[in-house]
Amino acid sequence: MRSATLVASLAAVVAATPTKSTPQKPRAVSVEPITATGNAFFKGSERFYVRGVAYQPGGSGANIDPLADPKVCLPDIKKFADLGINVVRVYSVDNSKDHKECMTALADADIYVALDANNPKYSINRADPAPSYNADYLQSVFAVIDEFIKYDNTMAFFSGNEVIHDEADTTKSARYVKATTRDMRQYIRERGYRKALVGYSAADVSTNRIQTANYFNCGTEDERSDFFAFNDYSWCDTDIVTSGWDVKVKNFTGYGLPIFLSEYGCTKNGRTFGEIEALMSDQMTPVYSGGLMYEYSMEENKFGIVQISGKDQTGNREELPEYKSLKNALSKYPAPTGDGGFTSTTASAACPTKDSNWLVDSTLLPAMPEKAKVYLSDGAGKGPGLNGPGSQWASTTSSGDAAPGSGSVDSTASPSSAAAGGFAMSPVDRAPFVISGLVAFFTLVGALAL
Ligand SMILES: *[C@@H]1O[C@H](CO)[C@@H](O)[C@H](O)[C@H]1NC(C)=O
Repeated sequence: MRSATLVASLAAVVAATPTKSTPQKPRAVSVEPITATGNAFFKGSERFYVRGVAYQPGGSGANIDPLADPKVCLPDIKKFADLGINVVRVYSVDNSKDHKECMTALADADIYVALDANNPKYSINRADPAPSYNADYLQSVFAVIDEFIKYDNTMAFFSGNEVIHDEADTTKSARYVKATTRDMRQYIRERGYRKALVGYSAADVSTNRIQTANYFNCGTEDERSDFFAFNDYSWCDTDIVTSGWDVKVKNFTGYGLPIFLSEYGCTKNGRTFGEIEALMSDQMTPVYSGGLMYEYSMEENKFGIVQISGKDQTGNREELPEYKSLKNALSKYPAPTGDGGFTSTTASAACPTKDSNWLVDSTLLPAMPEKAKVYLSDGAGKGPGLNGPGSQWASTTSSGDAAPGSGSVDSTASPSSAAAGGFAMSPVDRAPFVISGLVAFFTLVGALAL
């Protein structure tokens, strides 16, 4: 699932800023970058918790970049400020466009962004990952970094979203997502950029969540992530024990990297967003650093809190009842003061072994495609945007440096099969997979029990 103050106030801030010998800059161009230490995020010396929303007006199908159009982002940024959030996640950004107006307005409202560096056309194809890990794909990913890293309120880049979404075949795509994570971190280092955070956003797959988490935090330092995030819809207006979140604290204790929920927001049993109370409580803050509520705009899958009118997403913004609920929960459960019991040392994990839920048979990562290495020294150049030719089958015509053990590229494969895999799925897209998986599982359990 995926998903930008006010000129007057900006002008007021600029006007009010003293002009001589003062370290204070206009806020619109100066926010403190978020860093990671041990298993927590920091804004300066203060611990930082993600208290945000997923922002994907139009839904995943529309595939629009809300941060490229001030007519879309500016009215929403007013709402974000009113809600009291501090992060928005955007699932698909156009690396050929300018983002200054939206990013500046967000910064002025003290709001950070967490961005998916891939998009439907430029992503790892979970159905056939090896050929989709190619130079055209990395060029698009690196161009997203070039465009957004200049804004200090870019908090993090996701190297993938829910690419692995079951406990079988899609786990084989993990190596390519991890290679992408490694390449993004290397690109940031070699281009001399500030240290922006890179990590993976995992699907809500309980059978291999720990294996996935450990995989992205094992091996040499250059291969590991800066954080781990997963999507979780298990709260359902219950409590920390019924939802199983207590176990998720226990199981991730000692993980060694910051963890947050890259999506939360069950819609069963009403939405009072008790998740925020739990996430901000001392039961969870030693291990978790907040989360992102899915989602801001009301789309077909019915998770939204604001109804946007107009096909181009520029119309009226109507607050739905859940808007007030979220605003209330955020104000009732503020970020705790103090360090939240975090662990100050970073730790790595042991690589998971191959088993029936984790079909990754090698910890060896695919090498960066030869043709992509030039981007490290020369930069990525102009990005292809969201409507370029796409990269999933680019290796059949360009670089396609094969990964160890990746096999040959099937040039006869149908591009339509790319649509079946590789990118973010909304709860609605995904529900049939989860439900059919559960039905199959319980049918099996039932059959065995009888
Ligand atoms: C927690 O860890 C136990 C023991 O490894 C495992 O059986 C269980 O499935 C895990 N639960 C979650 C929610 O990760």
